[in-house]
Amino acid sequence: MCGIVGYIGDKKATPILINGLLSLEYRGYDSAGIAVLDKDKIVVRKDKGRVNNLYDLVGINDLTGTVGIAHTRWATHGKPSKENAHPHMDNSSTFAVVHNGIIENYTEIRSFLENKGYKFLSQTDTEVIPNLIHYYSENGIQGENPFLRAVKSAVDDLKGSYAIGVISNKYPDRLIAVRKDSPLVIGKGIGENFIASDIPAILPYTREFYLPDDNEFVEIYENKVQFYDSSLVEHSKAIKNIEWDACAAEKDGFEDYMLKEIYEQSSAIRETIGSRFRLGEKCDFDDLNFSKEFLSSINKIYIVACGTAMHAGLTGKTIIEKLCKIPVTVDIASEFRYRDPIIDKNTLCIFISQSGETADTIAALKLSKEKGATTLAISNVIGSSITREANYTIYTHAGPEIAVASTKAYSSQVVLLAILAIYFAEVLDSTSNEVLENLKSEILDLPVKISNILDNTEEIKAFAKKVYTEKDMFFLGRGTDYNVALEGSLKLKEISYIHSEAYAAGELKHGPIALIENNVTVIGIITDPKLIEKSLSNIQEVITRGAKTLIITNQIIPSDHFNYVINIPNTSALLSPILSVIPLQLLSYYISKNKGLDVDKPRNLAKSVTVE
Ligand code: G6P
Repeated sequence: MCGIVGYIGDKKATPILINGLLSLEYRGYDSAGIAVLDKDKIVVRKDKGRVNNLYDLVGINDLTGTVGIAHTRWATHGKPSKENAHPHMDNSSTFAVVHNGIIENYTEIRSFLENKGYKFLSQTDTEVIPNLIHYYSENGIQGENPFLRAVKSAVDDLKGSYAIGVISNKYPDRLIAVRKDSPLVIGKGIGENFIASDIPAILPYTREFYLPDDNEFVEIYENKVQFYDSSLVEHSKAIKNIEWDACAAEKDGFEDYMLKEIYEQSSAIRETIGSRFRLGEKCDFDDLNFSKEFLSSINKIYIVACGTAMHAGLTGKTIIEKLCKIPVTVDIASEFRYRDPIIDKNTLCIFISQSGETADTIAALKLSKEKGATTLAISNVIGSSITREANYTIYTHAGPEIAVASTKAYSSQVVLLAILAIYFAEVLDSTSNEVLENLKSEILDLPVKISNILDNTEEIKAFAKKVYTEKDMFFLGRGTDYNVALEGSLKLKEISYIHSEAYAAGELKHGPIALIENNVTVIGIITDPKLIEKSLSNIQEVITRGAKTLIITNQIIPSDHFNYVINIPNTSALLSPILSVIPLQLLSYYISKNKGLDVDKPRNLAKSVTVE
């Protein structure tokens, strides 16, 4: 899950490539590099560390070439180091390659090439690619367009996932790109063209994009983009116009993307609701148009996702089961695909992925399709891989999310799942109109309630200051509050590096209560009026054992029992995860800031996990 960018045109490639990399750093940031065609040579500059380090590399300003490729890395094979950083070249320095993904059979290919006399300088899987291209270019390539044919022959040998960009000093008028199960877009400019792992990386330069399919080869010239199928038969490709505002991906005066994105949650949710419904009218899902007959035939729903998206799915399950009376199982994508899930044509599988590129989620989707399920993707990224695989797609429209820790994508996913559940219930006639209308009205009130929470953050900032040096924390909740406990705990781990556990409050006494000792911090989420007494008793159990407590609630509770209470606006228990998560997002954020950490790019993580 690295980021790649490429340029060919009439301008100096280096600044464009480095700007692109800076925007792709969320995909990995342990090393970075650039290769530019300079006169008749390929010049590579690379090192470990952030993209900013590239500026300090000797001679980067002297790279005046107008064709180049660049890469920001999240290490899979070989530790972060200069040798392992991309771009990689073949032994003769004729081909330079950037790659995102994993070559599963690289050891085999490496031995094959070593037997032919090739030497390897890195521990990466990627280095086999330029050498394999070189091998084929010297052995047996016949006919027109030898560069493309050599790349194709090499790619035919690769097993795994890849988005690849290749340049060559023998063919200085073009760059070649190909993808399989890893993201890649081609940007079309005037007198210049681009490749990148995602759209925002090149949005400052163009709004016209091609979205290559798996196994499609693309030859990119200054004034032309040519597509070929997997047998190298030429074909044309439709252009997609992207209407996003480039500024939407900038920080807008916030110190970090994460804080900006937390504050964008009201507007993001307004976009998610969009014109999906109005009070007194049925929900509009013309992108689905499911009939009563079809939905009645569905006897089981799986919601499959990873990380934060999976936590959104947990609340989706509660809402769908409650309103539609269809059993829903939520699964982690990396588990789902290996446990032989029971799926048939009466199964609906919903896949949630902000990026739409998460390898495990995509693989789980492919498996479900093979087994005959109807597949529905929920994504934030238009044209992302998952949306191209699924039978149906609905978008969250939360706008670009850049910070690695997901915030606005989560709330927009929960909102979209709630609207989807209402739509299903309307089609199925499974819940009274009155209940559904109330829920719609609660959804419409959410943006204002979110703004209210975000207007009063002093208490949470003060609490973060008190606890930021702690080593452990516990998050407790019941029902949908438990889902929020899981998400709050994940956020804390991700960006504050504090060990934390999330537990269903009633389960505490079956083990984890043994960890509660004097002064340990326990955060309780209490929003469901039906569960309030039970939750309070569980919190009392930890207070008795010396814990200090912070309660997030929309209920009236005896506040003198607890050290800190944060009140949030009331809403339906089904929707409360959208509000109660916000103080927890802010808590992780301010703890991380107090610790002086890099909030947007936490260690070892990446936003878009395109490896399995
Ligand atoms: C990574 C990110 C998480 C995200 C998860 C799923 O682990 O760091 O923030 O929740 O991937 O990402 P997706 O794009 O599929 O929602």
